[in-house]
Amino acid sequence: MVRQNIYPARAGAQIQPEVYGNFSEHLGRCIYEGLYVGEDSAIPNVNGMRTDVVEALRNIQLPVLRWPGGCFADEYHWKEGIGPKADRKRIVNTNWGYVVEDNSFGTHEFLELCRQVGCKPYINGNVGSGTVQEMAEWIEYMTAGGDSTMAKLRGKNGHAEPWQIDYFGVGNENWGCGGNMRPEYYADLYRRYQSYVKQYGEKKIFKIACGPGTNVSDPNYNWTEVLMKNAGAYMDGLSLHYYTTPSDDWNHKGSATDFTREEYEVTLRKALFMETLLAGHGAVMDKYDPEKRVALVVDEWGTWYDVEPGTNPGFLYQQNTMRDAMVAALTLNLFNKHADRVRMANIAQTVNVLQAVVLTDGAKMVLTPTYHVFDLYKVHQGATLLHSSVSCGCDEASGLPLVQESASRAADGSLSTTLCNPSAAEAVEMETVVTGCEMELAEALVLAGEIHAHNDFETGSPVQIQALDGVAVAHEGGNTVLRFTLPPCSAARLTLR
Ligand code: AHR
Repeated sequence: MVRQNIYPARAGAQIQPEVYGNFSEHLGRCIYEGLYVGEDSAIPNVNGMRTDVVEALRNIQLPVLRWPGGCFADEYHWKEGIGPKADRKRIVNTNWGYVVEDNSFGTHEFLELCRQVGCKPYINGNVGSGTVQEMAEWIEYMTAGGDSTMAKLRGKNGHAEPWQIDYFGVGNENWGCGGNMRPEYYADLYRRYQSYVKQYGEKKIFKIACGPGTNVSDPNYNWTEVLMKNAGAYMDGLSLHYYTTPSDDWNHKGSATDFTREEYEVTLRKALFMETLLAGHGAVMDKYDPEKRVALVVDEWGTWYDVEPGTNPGFLYQQNTMRDAMVAALTLNLFNKHADRVRMANIAQTVNVLQAVVLTDGAKMVLTPTYHVFDLYKVHQGATLLHSSVSCGCDEASGLPLVQESASRAADGSLSTTLCNPSAAEAVEMETVVTGCEMELAEALVLAGEIHAHNDFETGSPVQIQALDGVAVAHEGGNTVLRFTLPPCSAARLTLR
């Protein structure tokens, strides 16, 4: 039996809704086909945005969407993506399959997508191959009112009113595809470029500097150290990228659906390396920013496998199983626990790329197991983290925790906990003690399945959220005690009022 203690009297930081964000890049079928089909498509759409996908993203209350990349961002020239579509420049997407990009999805289309989804925009600027002037004018184009040249150009292109841009990234992976820079050089460039991200509207634009790329053999603390030391005062957030792969060999990362139990366990152990990264980079940031003013923004995370057989290797299309659901459930609980520093995160990517929440095939759409985790966990958005812990350690054979969890209290007073049992085969008997208060169970839900279970276009969608039956509630000594069983390979949410 595993005991979980939740202490409602010990409140932590607010869990920013943006921790449940997504990332969408001009890569493979993420933007084109996945999100945007164009106004003339036979697939139901509003102003070119797929209605089914927009509805699905609204359902998980997607709080923020990052765009246009990724590596694509540092080759993206925004003026090529505005104005009449027939006149837009056709370019080669050199990062992702050398396909021709017709720029029919640009600034106006992205901000229209955000409007329909009801999420905040997070736009990533181009430092690697763009100029300071280009970045400065993009900000002016999007956010300035009045009759400046850029504001008038925006009006001519059909949007008289300025938009509100909440988040702006100054470059992406500038240690790699964004220019192969040394941290000292990028820190100086960041200081310069961000100087011209001006504030035209009332809302201050939250500026995000490119942070470290990390992996299990190199957490890359030096990048964070140099950035915080030299440019910390000029940023609101510092990004961090971490991808989970079953194998360290990038040429053979492993299949998304055909994996052994050992590969399943390795993948989850590697996903849990996120804890080391959050603690380690958080500690470096604490040295320069003990008040935690600067947010850690994990704006790319998720699983990365070999592409599905027969698909374009440059498109990064992979299926998504209960293994991915477990990666999401564990990772999101970690983000909750680090709410004081982690204030945005963006899973890579929204549709048809890497650990997607949605897959599409023509007019068909499938919601992945990862999607359902976002659905289960959405109650944490904007809630207050509560101190909680579990009595168990790790399973000796797999090295995985028996149970991993987090808990929060929402503004309406309800208390929710999300728990993950990562074991491939063993159920766990749980006793959850909510100390010092007597509450009633309002809802108990679970996502569970065999480790390879997934939803697809041919065989349907067996992986769904279900009621978690058999939860016994007792009030003992002024506490609320819940007794229930967590099935193997499951994520559950219990809500009390
Ligand atoms: O998400 C795919 C790619 O991974 C992004 O373009 C890049 O930033 C990262 O290397």
